[in-house]
Amino acid sequence: MKKRNFIVIVVVVAALIFPIRQAAINLFAEKSEPILADKIDDGEDLDTNVNIDDIPLYDNNIEEVEDMTDYLLDTTFVDDSGKLILKNTDDILVLVNKRRNLPSDYKPSDLVIPDVKFSFDDIIDKRHLRKEAAHALEDMFREADNQNVILYGVSGYRSYNTQNYLFENKVSKVGEEEANLLVARPGQSEHQTGLAMDISSKSANFSLIEDFGQTTEGQWVNENAHRFGFIIRYKRDTTDITGYSFEPWHIRYVGVEVATEIYERNITLEEFLGDA
Ligand code: DAL
Ligand code: ZN
Repeated sequence: MKKRNFIVIVVVVAALIFPIRQAAINLFAEKSEPILADKIDDGEDLDTNVNIDDIPLYDNNIEEVEDMTDYLLDTTFVDDSGKLILKNTDDILVLVNKRRNLPSDYKPSDLVIPDVKFSFDDIIDKRHLRKEAAHALEDMFREADNQNVILYGVSGYRSYNTQNYLFENKVSKVGEEEANLLVARPGQSEHQTGLAMDISSKSANFSLIEDFGQTTEGQWVNENAHRFGFIIRYKRDTTDITGYSFEPWHIRYVGVEVATEIYERNITLEEFLGDA
């Protein structure tokens, strides 16, 4: 074969082989990408040991707790008379106030009697709290007791009808304007949620009076209740926001993280939840 013919054959063969080789490279390159992605999705980058139940919703993360302004969205509906009625009645953070009403037939399903001292002997409604709040109250009273601070439960859960009686009774004694600052109307009391307890001490004559806030016991509650998940719900000088006078005796369970943030920022539950 002449040298020139040999060169022509080599060039032609090379020209045919190169595109076939390149096509083969491209084909495998395309296949290798999804294979790699599948491998990563199968677990190399994902922690498959994470249990969804272990992921906190808003506890343990104060930064997330700080922005709760969306929390109230879709928690009420408007009834025939134009009143806002709560839908999230069983929520530990349920916000009950003069704008946001509990249904008249609402009664928590997990009411229990906390194992604490009470200012009365009867086994009646007001001895009860919801289970989680009851255990927190037991922890709080026990630690107070260990520090020689003796607290007494005075009034916990009460029904819509009982609240109606208390409000009407107060109106008959002090008039409607004054009663509005002291007692919630039926459906508007946190006591119906089973998450609130009025507390007192021997030094305050087992009474629900402003002076309780000045007693050793009242001051201990003010400084420590948040560590057990309770807030002083109606603080001094917050009537514009809460609608009620100062009640150093009324504590409301919201959980330790939220209570601690409310305590540290010195705000009301309305401000915390974006209803102020
Ligand atoms: N004293 C509080 C506001 C209540 O009646 O629930
Ligand atoms: Zn109360």
